Amino acid sequence: MSLADLRALDAEHVIGTYARLPVEIVRGEGAHVWDDEGNEYLDLLCGISVTNLGHCHPSVVAAVRDQVGTLMHISNLFHTEPAMRLAQRLATRSLGGKVFFCNSGAEANEAAMKLARRATPRGEIVSVTGGFHGRTFGALSATAQESKQAPFEPLVPGVRAVAATAEAITGAVGPQTAAVLLEVIQGEGGVHPIAADALAAAREACDRHGAALIFDEVQTGMGRTGTLWAYEQTGVVPCAITTAKALGGGLPIGALITGPRLADVLQPGDHGSTFAGGPVVARAALAALEVTDDPAMLARVNALGERLRAQLATLPGVSAVRGQGLMIGFDLDGGGAPELVLRLLTEQRLIANATGPQTVRLLPPLTLSDAEAQDALERITRALAAGF
Ligand SMILES: Cc1ncc(COP(=O)(O)O)c(C=O)c1O
Repeated sequence: MSLADLRALDAEHVIGTYARLPVEIVRGEGAHVWDDEGNEYLDLLCGISVTNLGHCHPSVVAAVRDQVGTLMHISNLFHTEPAMRLAQRLATRSLGGKVFFCNSGAEANEAAMKLARRATPRGEIVSVTGGFHGRTFGALSATAQESKQAPFEPLVPGVRAVAATAEAITGAVGPQTAAVLLEVIQGEGGVHPIAADALAAAREACDRHGAALIFDEVQTGMGRTGTLWAYEQTGVVPCAITTAKALGGGLPIGALITGPRLADVLQPGDHGSTFAGGPVVARAALAALEVTDDPAMLARVNALGERLRAQLATLPGVSAVRGQGLMIGFDLDGGGAPELVLRLLTEQRLIANATGPQTVRLLPPLTLSDAEAQDALERITRALAAGF
């Protein structure tokens, strides 16, 4: 079927919530994908930080192949080994509490918000401006963006956003607060790290009032920033984290991971999901974790990220570079990020993403080789030189 045919089917039959790029991708391997005409693209976006190990990583593929022919689904009415082993690995490799599985980032945040309300009934949930937590009602209520929220009001009551500063967070948190929910580095918001003093203030205010500090690690987690979880580099330990995106090595799985204090707040019947923690996605996640949670891999993410950011900062037209590990955003002097991203795709065959008029976001595979990184820089340099 031609791209034109696909676009016609999309327009006629698919609810139009996505502005798709004019390319059909048919295959992926490592840092590369191919379109229907056989053109190769260098993928520096990883399906928005999902295929962190590159496309079709052999360990993930082998685990999925094995599991899919053994047991695909049975529901949470039964015990299954992959889910229990995955919960053990996630909890012991983070906050030491317990895990609730779900299927996406928004769902992980829904679970976190329900957990916080269960711990502090009717309590307020405080998020920060510039954040993104997903599109379901709870997650959307914590995503303080007028354009995304306004058409769907009324939203969940008792959820409000304040500026991401120490002063604003301290002022907003009180005895009425159930939780503070924020990203350590705001991804959709343009790769903006939250200041260290704001994180420390959030921790302090939550401690003072018995509220839960929850970090949304949906985008920053699974090695993206050079540690398994971004909070490890902040000096602040949250009460819970949420994760999804790269957790399943390319398949959909999300999780809420608590510390010990919140581990037993949710009770039988409080929350659930039919597909959550299914054996195939749990095996995929175990395989992804095995490869990701490796000191050599994480050290390389840090080193490569540092080098890429330094090199990007020297390119003409680039006014600022932000990020940590391989979560990278760069600003363009005169705006035009969406135009540059389109030019990168169509002329340089490099996949990136614009988070706004000024900022280009790169979320390359953690497995990107030196040669591929050099190739990426050359493609970006050529696109910038050609103007946009
Ligand atoms: C930080 C963060 N939280 C939550 C979400 C929502 O995840 P999902 O699209 O899987 O619902 C995203 C998605 O981009 C995200 O970046």
